[in-house]
Amino acid sequence: MPTLTLIDSGATYDVPAGTHLLDFAQANGLDIPFGCTRGSCGTCGVVVEKGMENLNEISDAEQDGVELISEDNARLACR
Ligand code: FES
Repeated sequence: MPTLTLIDSGATYDVPAGTHLLDFAQANGLDIPFGCTRGSCGTCGVVVEKGMENLNEISDAEQDGVELISEDNARLACR
C-alpha cells in the first residue's frame, strides 16, 4: 500500500492504490484547499517532492489544471 508523507507535518498515511488524494484528505481531516473538483481551477494543486513515478499518468484534463500552478512536480489532488 502506498505511503503518503506530508512535508509540513511529517505525518504519514497508508493510502490505498488508486485513491484520489483529495478524497483521502477529506475522509481523514487533512486540509487541502479545493474548488471545482474537476481539474479546471488548480486550487487543489500539490507539489510531489518524492515518488512522482508512483502516481498515475497525468491526464489531459489534469494537465490543463496543472498548467495554472507555477511549481515543478505539481499535481492536482482532485485528479
Ligand atoms: S479542485 Fe479545482 S482543480 Fe482540483
